[in-house]
Amino acid sequence: MKEPQSGRRPLIAANWKMHLLRQDASGFCRTLRSLLPSSPNVELVIFPGFTLLPTVAQELVGSTVAWGGQDLHQEAKGAHTGDVSGEQLADIGCSWVLCGHSERRQNHRESDRLVGEKALSARRHGLQPLLCVGETSEERQSGRTFEVLDRQLEAALAHRPQPFVLAYEPVWAIGTGETATPALAQKAHEHLRMRLGETLGKAWADEVRILYGGSVKPGNAAELGAEKDIDGFLVGGASLDPASFSGIISNSGFG
Ligand code: 13P
Repeated sequence: MKEPQSGRRPLIAANWKMHLLRQDASGFCRTLRSLLPSSPNVELVIFPGFTLLPTVAQELVGSTVAWGGQDLHQEAKGAHTGDVSGEQLADIGCSWVLCGHSERRQNHRESDRLVGEKALSARRHGLQPLLCVGETSEERQSGRTFEVLDRQLEAALAHRPQPFVLAYEPVWAIGTGETATPALAQKAHEHLRMRLGETLGKAWADEVRILYGGSVKPGNAAELGAEKDIDGFLVGGASLDPASFSGIISNSGFG
């Protein structure tokens, strides 16, 4: 088992993206609850699609598993057809929200600045933002990985949305089956923690959890989880099945 790093409790989150229907969600939650120990050492969060939130909330209430929204609008309320506010997420019992996932940045042209505003809005409604950063394949190949991460990180933290959790998700590893090697992921996490130290102070940066996301599976969770600065995972495809999600939890080495 990996020694706990500083006070950082490991966290493993499921991002269901635009998958599953209510019946699937209900079955997933029941099976997951039956597979988990009564007090896992790992903090767990599910990010279902918006229509599944009531089902997930009903199934997980009273459990050790929390839930959150995959996005929120930066304003508290208003004429924003199709958007969801932090207040509405809190109203359905969410304690978390994803901000700046690369699919939002790419498909909805979310800017770095908007991600920072969303993180601020999350905190205003008592939600913990899970801030996603990561470079594209082209950015990595042209040697700009750290430059991109620095820019995304700085904007996401512009309003100091503390507390928050960070997720490093290299875009080229998302849904491709091409996982970052543990050494490469560790290098990016170490860099992010160093930058957090410069922005927030080292003592504080040592407490921030940084998750890795991008083709995490039961088979690679152990080697990734063993790295010093990897404090958990944000899982897409392999989180849609309770057996594989719980396989990641049990193989992760997080206890
Ligand atoms: P995959 O695990 O399917 O690569 O997705 C990662 C992700 O985008 C989680 O947010």
